Amino acid sequence: MRNVTLEQIYEHPVTQKYVKRAGLAHAIAASYHAFRLAVKNNTNPDSAAKAAFLHDMGHYTWYRDGQWDFDLYRNNDIHAIKGAERAHKLLIRLGEDPAAAKEISVAVLLHTDSFLPVDHDQLQLSTLQQIVAKADELDEEPEGKHHYRWISERRAHRQIVELDQLIDKALKPSAEKQTSDI
Ligand SMILES: [Fe+2]
Ligand SMILES: [Fe+2]
Repeated sequence: MRNVTLEQIYEHPVTQKYVKRAGLAHAIAASYHAFRLAVKNNTNPDSAAKAAFLHDMGHYTWYRDGQWDFDLYRNNDIHAIKGAERAHKLLIRLGEDPAAAKEISVAVLLHTDSFLPVDHDQLQLSTLQQIVAKADELDEEPEGKHHYRWISERRAHRQIVELDQLIDKALKPSAEKQTSDI
């Protein structure tokens, strides 16, 4: 049984503001990739999908004179740090298990090495952290176009609900196994 569903996260005003700012279609696509990779690699699909859904919620809009300034963004961006903090606060507020909230927000923190003095491959990332970084990469488009892909509210909501169902289904066998082990 999960404490918090993706649908609850999706409907929260903080998500509506920050996940949408960075691109709702990208967040949903990344969470589906993360779910599939987690199932394939025997990692918690719930944490993977949540971390991927929230991974870019720390984005700030870097505009100068009404135009997106890529240099300003590249030199000053800390979206992974801000995203990790926002994700953690949101999850705790919604009643997420504190250990899961930490695991998810650290995966958000490490989804990119853009703010780090070392490359990703110099870190010993956990399987979950690698999955979230890979899920983001799988949905990336040249020139950051994945941040601007449009999705209707209706479609977004439906995809989130369907992913919740897939997660419940994926978690079921291990829950049944645990019960039978006792
Ligand atoms: Fe990112
Ligand atoms: Fe991303």
